[in-house]
Amino acid sequence: MVDEPSNSPDFSTEKLEAMQPQNLDEALAEVERVAVSPALELPLLAATSLVKNFGGIKAVDNASIEVAKGSITGLVGPNGAGKTTLFNLLSNFIRPDSGRVLFDGEPVHHLQPHIIARMGMVRTFQVARALSRLSVMENLLLAAQKQTGEKFWNTWLRNKEIATEEQQNREKAIAILESVGLAHMAYEYAGALSGGQRKLLEMGRALMTDPKLILLDEPAAGVNPTLINQICDRVQQWNRRGMTFLIIEHNMDVIMSLCDRVWVLAEGRNLAVGTPAEIQSNPEVLEAYLGQ
Ligand SMILES: Nc1ncnc2c1ncn2[C@@H]1O[C@H](COP(=O)(O)OP(=O)(O)OP(=O)(O)O)[C@@H](O)[C@H]1O
Ligand SMILES: [Mg+2]
Repeated sequence: MVDEPSNSPDFSTEKLEAMQPQNLDEALAEVERVAVSPALELPLLAATSLVKNFGGIKAVDNASIEVAKGSITGLVGPNGAGKTTLFNLLSNFIRPDSGRVLFDGEPVHHLQPHIIARMGMVRTFQVARALSRLSVMENLLLAAQKQTGEKFWNTWLRNKEIATEEQQNREKAIAILESVGLAHMAYEYAGALSGGQRKLLEMGRALMTDPKLILLDEPAAGVNPTLINQICDRVQQWNRRGMTFLIIEHNMDVIMSLCDRVWVLAEGRNLAVGTPAEIQSNPEVLEAYLGQ
């Protein structure tokens, strides 16, 4: 039997050793290229053919989306296009009627939202949900994952460990609050924050869980321009540290300045995908926005 010809490059040791030094350099460069090529890496998030009906309304109608690891990906579309519903399906706050969601290679559409969060996918809400009668600091500490003190017997048996863990969480919370510019509000009630500051607090809560992927639903809506710039800077900073983002946003300046790739949804369906510049000059996209 004849072996099937393979399209993939041959990087076997024998092959590499048999090469001349000059070719070896080329081969190693090729290994490097293949190893770091984002095109060959599995997406961190891949949702296929998601459907969600509310009574007669097809909020999400066979929509798909992919988020590459390490990217800042945008999700845009006119009001009522189904963007927030798609977020709810990705994080399983709402169960899809059909379709599948793979996160980091694992199917997650049958898992509870808190399990998905523990796996590293967290989301913020279009209307920020802070616990207003707790302090900003307490809001962050509550978001910390896997706290030993959560188990009743541990509060008796592993006292010292809990104290160390609490101290570490507190230090982490202070660092995050400094990073989102809320350190000066740490001991104020969360209810005293402005709408924009609540969005920053939500991001801070998400960061406390050390996520792989953060879904942000309109982080710039209702936020003053100075804070918008601050949010964008922070997103870029965390992205440089390896965190991946999927961002719903109507503010095109934010999308243009942050995103590598943008998905457009209209009437629950995929309309286009491309770079921000491609999306902005796509006639179908312009028509969908003008027609709303
Ligand atoms: N829980 C629900 N029950 C009934 N209809 C809903 C529900 N949630 C969303 N819808 C409808 O589904 C459609 C998509 O809504 P969705 O909130 O996902 O849109 P969106 O793209 O996030 O819009 P926006 O940009 O205004 O936030 C809308 O027609 C909306 O009225
Ligand atoms: Mg929405």
